[in-house]
Amino acid sequence: AIERTFSIIKPDATRRNITGKVLSYLEAGGLRVVAQKRIHMTKEQAEGFYAVHKERPFFNDLVSFMISGPVVVQVLEGENAVLKNREIMGATNPANADAGTIRKDFAESIEANSVHGSDAPETAKEEIAYFFKPEEIVG
Ligand code: CMP
Repeated sequence: AIERTFSIIKPDATRRNITGKVLSYLEAGGLRVVAQKRIHMTKEQAEGFYAVHKERPFFNDLVSFMISGPVVVQVLEGENAVLKNREIMGATNPANADAGTIRKDFAESIEANSVHGSDAPETAKEEIAYFFKPEEIVG
């Protein structure tokens, strides 16, 4: 079924000016951008977004990294978009990512791993609503 997922092009990618390269992988994989904006997250925004990881040892570093520069937040649409996007991104740790994935080709580390993507359709709905108003999404 046609589905939507939430994506972030992270600060390591905006810093290196490769947001277009990252987007080309998403589009080549069959996903369409139906909403997109460049933002610099506040600490509170990043902490809220990653609240599920609050007890993890990497939480503070993760939040610092995510506010270290601008990001591009996106809503992507396509057939099985959540799973499709996860395939295109590759494993969280670039060392484990398959050839031809965004993280294999661009990520610098498990933290500076270039992209975020929702892990399930329900999470996608919440994450999309966290950053976008319904009228900002144009399918
Ligand atoms: P993301 O999909 O954005 O969700 C949480 C992020 O935490 C993850 O990608 C990684 O970039 C980051 N992270 C940093 N260290 C770790 C770790 N040890 N295990 C999992 N995720 C980590």
